[in-house]
This record gives sequence, structure tokens and C-alpha cells, in this order.
Amino acid sequence: DWIMRDHIKEAVAAIRAQVGDEEVLLGLSGGVDSSVAAALIHRAIGDQLTCVFVDHGLLRLHEGDMVMDMFAGKLHARVIRVDASDLFLRELAGVTDPEQKRKIIGRLFVDVFKAEAEKLKAARPGSKGIQWLAQGTIYPDVIESGGAKSKKAVTIKSHHNVGGLPEQLGLKLLEPLRDLFKDEVRELGVALGLPHDMVYRHPFPGPGLGVRILGEVKKEYADLLRRADAIFIEELRSTIEPNSGKSWYDLTSQAFAVFLPVKSVGVMGDGRTYDYVVALRAVQTSDFMTADWAELPYGLLKRVSSRIINEVRGINRVTYDVSSKPPATIEWE
Ligand code: XMP
Repeated sequence: DWIMRDHIKEAVAAIRAQVGDEEVLLGLSGGVDSSVAAALIHRAIGDQLTCVFVDHGLLRLHEGDMVMDMFAGKLHARVIRVDASDLFLRELAGVTDPEQKRKIIGRLFVDVFKAEAEKLKAARPGSKGIQWLAQGTIYPDVIESGGAKSKKAVTIKSHHNVGGLPEQLGLKLLEPLRDLFKDEVRELGVALGLPHDMVYRHPFPGPGLGVRILGEVKKEYADLLRRADAIFIEELRSTIEPNSGKSWYDLTSQAFAVFLPVKSVGVMGDGRTYDYVVALRAVQTSDFMTADWAELPYGLLKRVSSRIINEVRGINRVTYDVSSKPPATIEWE
């Protein structure tokens, strides 16, 4: 629609005026906000933007490739993928406490991003060098950081919209989404050509699968969880609720699988199995402060369960989480 086209025109002009012929660095997370910010800034200044995508190895199945395909492949943006999964797994080894895990992931994320930023600042002789750090801060983040917030809320944004990072890197801050609400950011993303499915995705926590694997994080667990989660999401997307005509993915606010490092006995063919358990979590909420567990159809749960157990060797039991928030939280850690 042309109101959005006008808005893009204005935003593009504003970014060009602000940045001039200088260069911009942006941390791409795969989330909606940083993706839309990247697409908008790229529209404005093309190759003066460099995106850094830190892959911590705790992303969903094929997520890293999807991000690269979208930004490098389709948008032709300059994107650097930093595969830091070994580092993250090494530092997380033996750590079981949820908040400790969050802290480690957040700290490493900043370290890796900073190291990459310093490299980029030094490189590219002949150019004026990077002068700006772009962040996908949106209006609710601006309000949130002004008022009272829970301890978790601090952590939530702490590693993608890092306070103080521009100063530490000696960069000026560029925040082109600062005045927009989430739904406006989504509309903007679609208008900029990002796929509908990516723009309307469920939220995904910064620490990723790190807080969906209970206790110690191991690569083996992450690999099993990724596959189980992908099956769950695929079935949610393909199962349509007839009255609304919407998919169960769109009818839920957040849905994912959780890895329980617990083994239980099962039977497969004529053999006994002794494998891990996966819990499915799906909630409906308007603000994520309170949430109801979603009354998914039994047929859907049945398909998901049998597909996970048949397709993911190493998991022989699937449970459905029927806890609402409060007193449970949405994530298990
Ligand atoms: P809880 O589990 O507190 O989750 O009910 C509420 C919402 O916040 C997300 N969440 C996080 N997001 N970093 C994030 O970026 C985190 O550490 C984090 N912890 C929870 C959660 O996915 C849900 O949408």
C-alpha cells in the first residue's frame, strides 16, 4: 500500500541524510526487528551496510542458512556469518544453572560481535570506515528501558540491543525503527520484500536453544531438539483450524519443543529403547506476561508425537505441557 511506500521513502531519505557516505554495521540475529532494520538500511545505503550474523549454534534447524540465503542471497546485502558454535558449546560445558547459561551466552555474543566489529573497522582501507552501529530497537524497547522492568526483561534485550556497545566501539548509533510498534515493523518488513512467514514468526529468545535444553547444553541435545522442534512447527503451520481458516501456528503466540535430559523406556520393533524425552509447549497470549497453554487438537498432537518418535532417533517419548503462566513461565528455564 502506498502509505507504507511513503513511509519507506521518508525513512530511506532520513537514513541517507544521517549516514551520508559513511558506513554502517548491524548485528543480524534472524529476529524480526534486526531483519527489518537491515532490509530498510540496505534499501537506503546498499553496500555501505555490513551485517554481522553471529551463529551461536543454538538456533533452530536451518536458521543460519535461511538468514544467509535471505540477506546475502536474495537482498544481496553484505553479510558476514560468524560460526561461533564451538566457542559457545565449550564455554557452556558443565554449566547447568539457567541464569548462568544466559549470562555466558550474552557475554560471548557481545565478545564475538565486538571482535568482528573491530576487525571490520580496521579493514577496508580506502573507505571512510565504519562509523555507525545500527540496532533494531523498536518503540516498546525505548519505553521499556525508561521504566521499571523485570530482571528477565533486562536480560531479554541485553544481547541484541546492547546498551553502551556503540560507545565501546566508538560508533554512532543508528536506530531507524525507534518510533515503530511491532505490527508496524512487520508491515514495513513485508513492504520491503521480506517473506511473510519470517516477518510473522513467533518470538525466539536470544539465548535460543540454550534455555530450551534443560540443564547442561550439549551438541547432541541441540541436534535432537532442532529436529523435533522443526517437526512441531511444520505440523502447526500445515494444520488449518476450519472455523478461522488460520493455521495453528498463527493461532498460537509461541510454540516450541523443549529437550529434557531424562531417559525413559520405550519399545520399537522388537527392541527396547531407552531414550530422551521432548516436551511440546504452545501458548496463547497477548503480552507474554501471562499466557494460556493452547488447546491444540489431539489429531495434531498425535501426528507431531508419532513423527518425532519415528523420525528422530534418540527420542522415544513426547509430552505436552499443560501449564499456564503464571505460575509456570513460557520457557522452561
Ligand atoms: P517467560 O519464559 O519469562 O518468557 O514466560 C516470556 C517471553 O520472553 C522470552 N524470553 C526471552 N527472550 N532472552 C530473550 O531474548 C531471554 O533470556 C528470554 N527469556 C524468555 C520468551 O521466549 C517469551 O517470549
